[in-house]
Amino acid sequence: MYQILDRVDYSDDVYMQVIEAPAVAAACQPGQFIILMIHEEGERIPLTIADFDREAGTITIVVQAIGTSTRHLQKLGRGDSVSNFIGPLGMPSEIENVGTVVCAGGGVGVAPIYPIARALKEAGNKVICIMAARNESLLFWEDKLREVSDELIVTTDDGSRGRKCLVTEPLKELCETGDIDLVYAIGPGVMMKFCSKTTEPYAIKTFVSLNSIMVDGTGMCGGCRVSVGGETKFVCVDGPEFDGHKVDFDLLMSRQKQYIPQERKSLDAYLESEAASKAAAWHMAGSHAAACNAVVTASV
Ligand SMILES: Cc1cc2nc3c(=O)[nH]c(=O)nc-3n(C[C@H](O)[C@H](O)[C@H](O)COP(=O)(O)OP(=O)(O)OC[C@H]3O[C@@H](n4cnc5c(N)ncnc54)[C@H](O)[C@@H]3O)c2cc1C
Ligand code: FES
Repeated sequence: MYQILDRVDYSDDVYMQVIEAPAVAAACQPGQFIILMIHEEGERIPLTIADFDREAGTITIVVQAIGTSTRHLQKLGRGDSVSNFIGPLGMPSEIENVGTVVCAGGGVGVAPIYPIARALKEAGNKVICIMAARNESLLFWEDKLREVSDELIVTTDDGSRGRKCLVTEPLKELCETGDIDLVYAIGPGVMMKFCSKTTEPYAIKTFVSLNSIMVDGTGMCGGCRVSVGGETKFVCVDGPEFDGHKVDFDLLMSRQKQYIPQERKSLDAYLESEAASKAAAWHMAGSHAAACNAVVTASV
């Protein structure tokens, strides 16, 4: 069992958990991911390693609750445990001193960008981070990202914090300076697609981290296959990072949607069972209060 040592909610849907997993913490590198299972019959959930502490033997994950498993995990807090925690998986980021690097994180993609930006900074690069979200309430880790950045640009779609624009606007301005040697873009598929399209005319190498649907995470099932430069690649063993100029994002995004009816059915069943157990708890509490009232009334 792997114990949850800490937990912070960043919004209604986004939360952070620190999990005790010394073997994973000892071996992991920026860019890698883990697969966890909440219980033995649970779904396998791939999640990027957002931070790690080798001394404490912990891994930090930041999760967006979107379906049954990520909502179930959201209910667990300090002292709870998950049954399986497999990793580190995937290839580490290529960290070299290349000059000036832009690290763009969109939404929950800010979490996986953090260890990469930190490693790039430690390798001697000038690091410019862009963190982007739909609105201010969805921003997190601004302080952590600022610590590892020479410059930090914040954007929100609605202008509630930082610049009111999409991540691609400051990215294009930076490309135009002619000073950028490498770009990392991590976030939703559509964000990574348009970041890659932005840098392509400037021929700036751009890494993206793909989140295709995974099952085993070991290269056996083929579930995570993507097309990169016309070749089939498995995200779990060949990635998750690839050259964004070569990725077929439209295929990736259509494959991500292939189980939506089943996922919706599973979420409806989960929410129904949650509502039923809440109602039962209220009923129990109500009966208990009525019984207490009866005792108090009788004794008066
Ligand atoms: C390498 C990798 C790293 C990831 N890192 C993070 C992260 O750091 N934080 C985070 O919030 N999310 C991350 N994800 C996505 C996360 O795994 C899915 O959101 C999660 O599995 C959804 O499960 P669910 O049951 O809650 O939702 P479901 O209702 O089952 O699915 C909702 C959507 O999530 C995606 N999804 C579902 N099952 C999987 C699966 N087995 N593998 C991949 N995607 C799936 C699909 O697009 C699906 O439409 C990562 C995915 C990959 C492949
Ligand atoms: S998840 Fe099965 S091959 Fe990658």
